[in-house]
Amino acid sequence: MTPCILITGGAGYIGSHTAVTLMEAGHRVVIIDNLCNSSPRVLDRLRRLCGNSFEFVQADVRDGAALDAIFTQHPVNSVIHFAGLKAVGESMAQPLRYFDNNVGSTISLLQAMDRADVRRIVFSSSATVYGDPQQVPIPETAPLKATNPYGRTKLICEDMLRDLQCADPRWQVAILRYFNPVGAHPSGLIGEAPSGVPNNLMPYITQVAVGQRDYLSIFGNDYPTPDGTGVRDYIHVMDLARGHLAALDHLANEQQSITVNLGTGYGVSVKQLVDTFSRVAGRPIAHRHVARRSGDVAACYADTSLARTILGWQAEHDIARMCEDAWRWQSINPTGYAS
Ligand code: NAD
Ligand code: UD1
Repeated sequence: MTPCILITGGAGYIGSHTAVTLMEAGHRVVIIDNLCNSSPRVLDRLRRLCGNSFEFVQADVRDGAALDAIFTQHPVNSVIHFAGLKAVGESMAQPLRYFDNNVGSTISLLQAMDRADVRRIVFSSSATVYGDPQQVPIPETAPLKATNPYGRTKLICEDMLRDLQCADPRWQVAILRYFNPVGAHPSGLIGEAPSGVPNNLMPYITQVAVGQRDYLSIFGNDYPTPDGTGVRDYIHVMDLARGHLAALDHLANEQQSITVNLGTGYGVSVKQLVDTFSRVAGRPIAHRHVARRSGDVAACYADTSLARTILGWQAEHDIARMCEDAWRWQSINPTGYAS
């Protein structure tokens, strides 16, 4: 039987794009997702893009028996673990839910993998583990510090994976620290569909552009950055997806665990992103300058040299392309998967 890749959280934003990239590269995929933050309609869209080269299991990753059944029924040789809750503000209001879901699911998954003798895993971490960075661009060796419960769950899972590698060298682990994923598949069939009011900048901009929100609040214009607005490392979700393929290839070929930043290496300000989006979409984005958002840092962008050297991977899409694809997705699907 052809080996396959288990994707937890594969109905979500990054997981669905990665599933497409893996299938396009010829891999068979099994997705497990409890759909707590995604729509079952994603699966129809994946079928339209890739046919039936995947299986879907609706279950919680904390359910060890459901995982055992997957490992028994499918010849899984690697796992990509996206499943998790990701809203910073929510994690501050409901820390136990975040620890239970994010840490609990990772423990459950690693135990099931061990039982099944599958010890190759790619883990979704975040630039949030760098806290308020002392330097930019940020290398992987920078000090780690969580500033909220969400970030702490990522650090705990990273630590767990490091301890596991020390205890048993058969584990092959790739910890990928994403910067700011944006954009959508070029088909416009899948994309980011946040429920409720978006927390993040790009979905907020696209919802203003499509007329669902009146205006964008720009948080802070007095940062020590060239135009005073916050600077981030936006990365096209299709580049990010390709980074997972490169990480899996690395683990399979080199059998060596890695921790790598996935970003473009370029900082882009809120103002630059808004201006680029307006140009690409051909419409103004109404906005107002308001106070800084608490917990935000001035600038955060990646040192990407390790990803280039170790994985032979680098981001290809520029900010205009990110805006173009995000806009195509939003304008074809004004209310996300409910459209
Ligand atoms: P998402 O919410 O779109 O996808 C996560 C998926 O996991 C959802 O489909 C959800 O239903 C599922 N899920 C959550 N808990 C589950 C559980 N216990 N069992 C089964 N399924 C479960 O989020 P995303 O943006 O695709 O993020 C994927 C991963 O990348 C997350 O771990 C997130 O923390 C991390 N990450 C995301 C970003 C970002 O900006 N989007 C940045 C850095 C890191
Ligand atoms: C946020 C999370 C971070 C997570 C990352 C990627 C917080 C405090 N941090 O980071 O943990 O890893 O998303 O998912 O939530 N902005 C506006 N107006 C808006 C929204 C955002 O001006 O309506 C600005 C922000 O101040 C920031 C930039 O846009 O300067 C990007 O914000 P956002 O998309 O929320 O990402 P991060 O703050 O990098």
